[in-house]
Amino acid sequence: MRSFGSDNNSGASSEVLAALAAANVDHAIGYGDDPWTARTRELFAEEFGPGAEAFLVLNGTGANVLALSLAAGPATCVLCGEGAHIDVDETGAPEAAGIKVLPLESRRGKVLPEALREALGAIGTVHSAQPSCLSISQPTELGAVYAKAEIEELARIAHEAGILVHMDGARIANAAVALGLPFRAFTVDAGVDLLSFGGTKNGILFGEALLVFRPELAKRAPYLRKARLQLASKMRFIAAQYEAYLRGGLWRRNAEAANAAAARLAGLARGIPGVELVGEVETNALFARLDPAAAERLRAEYFFYDWEGGLVRWMTSFDTTEADIQGFAAALARALARGPAEARA
Ligand SMILES: Cc1ncc(COP(=O)(O)O)c(C=O)c1O
Repeated sequence: MRSFGSDNNSGASSEVLAALAAANVDHAIGYGDDPWTARTRELFAEEFGPGAEAFLVLNGTGANVLALSLAAGPATCVLCGEGAHIDVDETGAPEAAGIKVLPLESRRGKVLPEALREALGAIGTVHSAQPSCLSISQPTELGAVYAKAEIEELARIAHEAGILVHMDGARIANAAVALGLPFRAFTVDAGVDLLSFGGTKNGILFGEALLVFRPELAKRAPYLRKARLQLASKMRFIAAQYEAYLRGGLWRRNAEAANAAAARLAGLARGIPGVELVGEVETNALFARLDPAAAERLRAEYFFYDWEGGLVRWMTSFDTTEADIQGFAAALARALARGPAEARA
């Protein structure tokens, strides 16, 4: 099966699997007191600066809930973009941890600064949950990438109001490649306090990281990680994967391949009558409007998701090949070509 449903549908990089096998030797102390975790924490500190603390976790939702648990408490809320994963795709996990999530007016998932300013007006109102954190997704769930200056502006507004900034970076490598910037330039250096650093969508088998850029928050993180069910006993197997991912730029090669595959597919799709691509293709996600009957015909050959607003989402992976793209584009053209013919019949 070849899928354009999600970058979750691909497997893992062979380098990552080799690192897992190599870590399967001897015995090692559990819960992160092992040499693989020590080396990986060091690599994260090289990427993000010596003040950055990395906490490996089991999955992206776990990284987000842990981050928000560090930032928010009773009677507070977390502000986010429309369609944010924490709001619509985590089955209420933040709320189950006592965190109210409040979406703000956004453009392609990017929070509008004026909407943030307005929401911060609730500070001091006894009847309103008090904003404690702004959470932004980079890239957004609609494939848009915040420019560094946009993140700086939102972070400035947030910090002036005394609230923290969290970034959901489930696909952060795709954003870094799109921006042509090192990770730290548009995260910690731009004012982000907490970062969910994803890798599973870009060649990792399982496990993600929470990066904490403030020592006072990092102090509480080990305890909350356990309390939020995110402390892996055999942590070396998450760490070994991230060591392979960060060392030597595997993350970059994979994200470059996924983004380039999306750009290539977009080029072909634009040439097929009846396909309307919606929004710029900045990373590895494409959103399109097409006749629902054609979408159903295409779905008989390829799995993909319907999205809000009558759109469909197609997503490429680090291992999407030119043959995959040609095959999908041909199926798309066939699915659309049959529409008018049936109408004439
Ligand atoms: C924007 C975003 N954040 C976080 C996640 C984390 O998801 P999971 O808990 O499945 O690792 C995902 C996965 O789809 C995502 O798309």
